[in-house]
Amino acid sequence: MYESHFGLSGKPFKLSPDPHFFYGSPHHSKAISYLRYGLESGEGFIVITGPVGTGKTTIARSLLSSLDESITAIQLVTTHLTPDALINMIASNFGLQVEGLGKSETLKRLEGFLNNLNRQGKRALLVIDEAQNLPSETIEELRMLSNFQVNDKPLIQSFLLGQEELKPIIELPEMEQFRQRIIASCHLETFNIEQTREYILHRLKVVGWDNNPRLDDKIFALISQYTGGVARKINIFMDRLFLYAFMENIQTIDEQAVRSVIDEMGGELSGGLQSTSHTRAPVNANTVSSMHYDHAASVDSVELDNLCQILAEVNHILDDVVSRKTLTIKHLDRLIREKRKLLSNRNEPSESNRLVEKRWLQQLIKEREL
Ligand SMILES: Nc1ncnc2c1ncn2[C@@H]1O[C@H](COP(=O)(O)OP(=O)(O)OP(=O)(O)O)[C@@H](O)[C@H]1O
Ligand SMILES: [Mg+2]
Repeated sequence: MYESHFGLSGKPFKLSPDPHFFYGSPHHSKAISYLRYGLESGEGFIVITGPVGTGKTTIARSLLSSLDESITAIQLVTTHLTPDALINMIASNFGLQVEGLGKSETLKRLEGFLNNLNRQGKRALLVIDEAQNLPSETIEELRMLSNFQVNDKPLIQSFLLGQEELKPIIELPEMEQFRQRIIASCHLETFNIEQTREYILHRLKVVGWDNNPRLDDKIFALISQYTGGVARKINIFMDRLFLYAFMENIQTIDEQAVRSVIDEMGGELSGGLQSTSHTRAPVNANTVSSMHYDHAASVDSVELDNLCQILAEVNHILDDVVSRKTLTIKHLDRLIREKRKLLSNRNEPSESNRLVEKRWLQQLIKEREL
């Protein structure tokens, strides 16, 4: 909506984890280095954890987009999968026909496929996102997969990315063998004020921002405080701030503009939005160990979980639409006021008045279309 007005080549604050916008904060760069190191060594597990919305999926996508043909990678986004379901999912993601097969037959095909890759000089990589959803016995199954080896080198390597609830799962006593195979792990942190500033400027530069609108240096502390330095929240906030600047015809975004948008958004970023993608209750080590993954019961809880996530998304989208409409109406009000002033000021329409009027009408038509 505001991109063309500010001469930007695209939306700077999209919510999708797009590797083109990747900003290497010290934590993000460290995570990427660990993953690359893991790829080079070709063995063991790498675990990346971090709070909601801090960039785990973005890191996975950045890594995957930089791989060459010698690595056959698949990325799984998991729900509460049983060990058997995970094996099935991995096999079918590698393109194997395993429908209706028992577990041992599926494993045999998978091993055949991995051996085949190895003979072609290729390696298999499994990236599991949202790994905090996996029960401990399913993570243990991943360890078993790393026993498929040739010359003491595993045929498949796994990277696990997950929210903070993944940590207590890995720390369970029964995960000792898995823990011993982790060659590197790191934890993402939220951005501090300086990183928030760099992150925002980085995303803007990717879409060709040329100081229009100008950003007052004082705004970054406020933005960092309101969003808690969480990348996803910064994106949502900045998108609204730019929309506001466009609607109010602001050339410099200062603290006052930021405060106005904070007022408009109210508790949006501290409450509802925090759970846009995840509404599940925190899991601790005790609940994890006592979870019983009876299939029928887990399907119900998975469906409920998914439903809650979808409802939270819908809720957020509707909130956003309402806010945008309100801003549009305010903007139209301003245009109408300007038009009235113009009409009352003139007797004979001058050439410049005619031009202003034409531009006003064009803008009004554009707004209606939106
Ligand atoms: N280092 C980064 N560079 C550029 N954009 C980032 C970075 N980190 C996060 N983002 C942006 O923040 C948003 C959330 O990122 P992402 O989805 O990767 O978070 P996440 O940690 O996987 O979240 P969740 O815990 O909900 O799975 C996305 O819009 C993404 O583009
Ligand atoms: Mg993610």
